[in-house]
Amino acid sequence: MNVKNKKLRALCVGGAGYIGSFTARELLNKGFQVAILDNLSTGHRGAIPNGCDFIWGDYGDLTSVTSDLLSGFDVFFLFAGKINVEESMKNPWLYWNENVFKLINFLEILPQKAFIVYSSSAAVYEPQNFPLNEECDKKPVNVYGVTKLAAEDVLLRYCELKELRVVCLRYFNAAGADLEGTHGEDHHPETHFIPSLCLYALGILKDFSIYGDNWPTKDGTCVRDFIHVLDLADAHVKAVDYLVGTDNNFSCFNVGSGCGYSLLEILKCFQKILNRELNISISNPRDGDMPYLVADISKIKSVMGWQPRFGIDTILETAFSWHKKFPNGYRC
Ligand SMILES: NC(=O)c1ccc[n+]([C@@H]2O[C@H](COP(=O)([O-])OP(=O)(O)OC[C@H]3O[C@@H](n4cnc5c(N)ncnc54)[C@H](O)[C@@H]3O)[C@@H](O)[C@H]2O)c1
Repeated sequence: MNVKNKKLRALCVGGAGYIGSFTARELLNKGFQVAILDNLSTGHRGAIPNGCDFIWGDYGDLTSVTSDLLSGFDVFFLFAGKINVEESMKNPWLYWNENVFKLINFLEILPQKAFIVYSSSAAVYEPQNFPLNEECDKKPVNVYGVTKLAAEDVLLRYCELKELRVVCLRYFNAAGADLEGTHGEDHHPETHFIPSLCLYALGILKDFSIYGDNWPTKDGTCVRDFIHVLDLADAHVKAVDYLVGTDNNFSCFNVGSGCGYSLLEILKCFQKILNRELNISISNPRDGDMPYLVADISKIKSVMGWQPRFGIDTILETAFSWHKKFPNGYRC
């Protein structure tokens, strides 16, 4: 594909969701022509940035879109999927269907030589007590991670079949909102730590638990690597620059901050911002959870020239500001 000196046409599949809508906004800012395809199963109309075309309804699912529609785009961002680890342990079939079989269906009708940026996850790795680089063993401990790894493998096969060029971005924990607090995370039910903490502080969630304080970590709670969603969006734009300039047809990159914080440390940072203490309980560990997930981000830094700009304080402040302004999320 000759993409030099032309306005790239991007299709964000799942672009009405959290990470997809932030990326779509960043792509528009960078001069891409952007469309969103979404079945609105977990996404929101209100999250779709002005200036994007929106494909939904009869054609808005990975399984119902047509090859004619797809032929109008140069680069495909694949955010669509199911993301709840606990749910994946209870209903593996749903996760295989949504995250793998529907992806195969979509790849079957994708034009030859398309560029793809795929939303993969840190959940593909075997958890270890040190920062994970891209070569570390892949041994997911939950069904969600198994399906993300299977999806990477499917993409690798289709690279050969259709001469695709694919970048898998393995996100660690996405969090935060835009700096004005007007767009942010809105999942139902909310299972992620930082938005749940914000909703609890605002009195919208009545209870809040940390799952397990007996993990083999510094203070017994899980250690996570939180990455601001604006930094994640920026990594997608850099991934396109990389795809345009490389001959490598399949590659994977971690996208995290490179810093690990225990959940108790996050709680303490958040209480400082609130200037008060929260009453938190400890409950049993969740099925499929991992004690320590922190990224080694040297590869994406050196190959794409990407690096995170926002730290944990900005993540917490922007997330709280969004939830305070929009306690019902996009359903106001
Ligand atoms: N949120 C995180 O911290 C995180 C971490 C690692 C990886 N990821 C990956 O990033 C991606 C996006 O995560 P998110 O937090 O933005 O999730 P999200 O639920 O907010 O967004 C997913 C979007 O995809 C849409 N969708 C789902 N199935 C679809 C289908 N079959 N056809 C069309 N649209 C469909 C939903 O309506 C939603 O708008 C997921 O693939 C997830 O596995 C997320």
